[in-house]
Amino acid sequence: MAQSQVEFRFLAEPTHVNFGGKVHGGMVMKWLDQAAYACATRWSGLYCVTVSVGTIRFRRPIFVGHVVELVARVVHTGTTSMHIFVQVRSGEAKSTELAETNHCIISFVALDEQGRPAAVPPYTPRGAEEQFLEQYAVQMKQFSQQVEQQMLDFYQQTDSPSA
Ligand SMILES: CC(C)(COP(=O)(O)OP(=O)(O)OC[C@H]1O[C@@H](n2cnc3c(N)ncnc32)[C@H](O)[C@@H]1OP(=O)(O)O)[C@@H](O)C(=O)NCCC(=O)NCCS
Repeated sequence: MAQSQVEFRFLAEPTHVNFGGKVHGGMVMKWLDQAAYACATRWSGLYCVTVSVGTIRFRRPIFVGHVVELVARVVHTGTTSMHIFVQVRSGEAKSTELAETNHCIISFVALDEQGRPAAVPPYTPRGAEEQFLEQYAVQMKQFSQQVEQQMLDFYQQTDSPSA
């Protein structure tokens, strides 16, 4: 497996399921964060913290007893940040066919032993898919920072302590 990628594979258990018999959205979000954390830590060799989560679209439900597979890949790096594309797929355990249920970009910052942002190894995309995913991650980062700034500006204008 590439240094830039980690894979998780397990069964959805009854404790993961909501009252409708499908896996909780919050549980899927936890798995996404865990897989992306493992990927960022493997890439950087450092403790990492989540700085931002991109949009998550729940495309299909995940059912108890189904196989769940998460593939997390580094798709973009900055100086101290790593931007991880995570894809979730699931399907019946007896089948080899898995269908995508979710994907998202999660951004991490590596920290040194003093808890300060630390430099990470640079990632270089190869081929059309990796270049596309890097561009997607860059756009997601820019969007996230832009809307965050809008929120800060709004609270500063209104003298609200929320910012
Ligand atoms: C993450 C943290 C250390 C960043 O510290 P900071 O001094 O604000 O750092 P900066 O503003 O310089 O940003 C650090 C990196 O994050 C990136 N970043 C900042 N906001 C971002 C966003 N919305 N989306 C993506 N990346 C972002 C910056 O681009 C920078 O990356 P670069 O060094 O590759 O250019 C700090 O905000 C923090 O501790 N946050 C809480 C983390 C946490 O508790 N997470 C949940 C539990 S793990």
